[in-house]
Amino acid sequence: MNIIIAKDAKEASEIASGKIIEEINTKKSLVLGLATGDTPLQTYKRLIEAYQKGTVDFTDVKTFNLDEYLGLPKEDVNSYNYYMHTNLFDHINIKKENIHLLSGFSDDFTKTANNYDEMIDEYNGIDLQVLGIGVNGHIGFNEPNSKLTLETHVTDLTQATLEQNSKFFPNIDEMPKQAITMGLGTIMKAKKIILIATGIRKANIIAQFLNSNEIDTYTPVSTLLLHNDLTVILDEEAASRYLEEKKMIGNENFNKKCSNNQRKCSTL
Ligand code: GLP
Repeated sequence: MNIIIAKDAKEASEIASGKIIEEINTKKSLVLGLATGDTPLQTYKRLIEAYQKGTVDFTDVKTFNLDEYLGLPKEDVNSYNYYMHTNLFDHINIKKENIHLLSGFSDDFTKTANNYDEMIDEYNGIDLQVLGIGVNGHIGFNEPNSKLTLETHVTDLTQATLEQNSKFFPNIDEMPKQAITMGLGTIMKAKKIILIATGIRKANIIAQFLNSNEIDTYTPVSTLLLHNDLTVILDEEAASRYLEEKKMIGNENFNKKCSNNQRKCSTL
């Protein structure tokens, strides 16, 4: 695992977008898994800027989004479909047919979910998956539970997630209580994963994730400890509790392990 600690959310987004651009420039037909929420917004802004400057070309890039709320039409400002179009797709030269988004409506969600996984398989899996993290440790909408699901599936949202994401809705009662999400098996099959976490409200879950060496189904992000090409990009706030627990701030070994260049640290 690579852990990169940026100064702030802006620097974290520069690092994340830089990595995505590097991957696209290495493989023009990159299969890119995308996340929503506040966290990747700045990263998507940087991708748009890079496209406008001509330093990245999305012509052959394929995307698969992680999740969608059930029952929100794609025109709804809170749907992830709307989010992706307004915050990224409408501003870059990606082809419509290369965009894959889950729908919050279906007569048969099992079929919808199976089709999604099959499509990902047809592209030989996701090359680079971008992830955020919920305050309860969810990734996508893989919520803490006694069992975790490998494939794309419909899930009930936990109270913690409803509270976290209610900031986007007029009030919590108007929020969908269910979502469809890519499963952890599909996420884990991605060849590379970048997880971005910024801000102080992510400090506890990041500490729990990085300072534990156990897989816990009640902390779904812990599954990523098994991935062999994971980069965790944090800002100082999100990293603060983790570092505090490790007592690494000001510790000589920590400083030695991290180069001056963006304090890039290999496995701490
Ligand atoms: C939602 C998404 C997740 C995302 C999380 C974090 O729940 N389903 O994929 O990681 O929000 O949100 P934020 O970046 O707003 O903290």
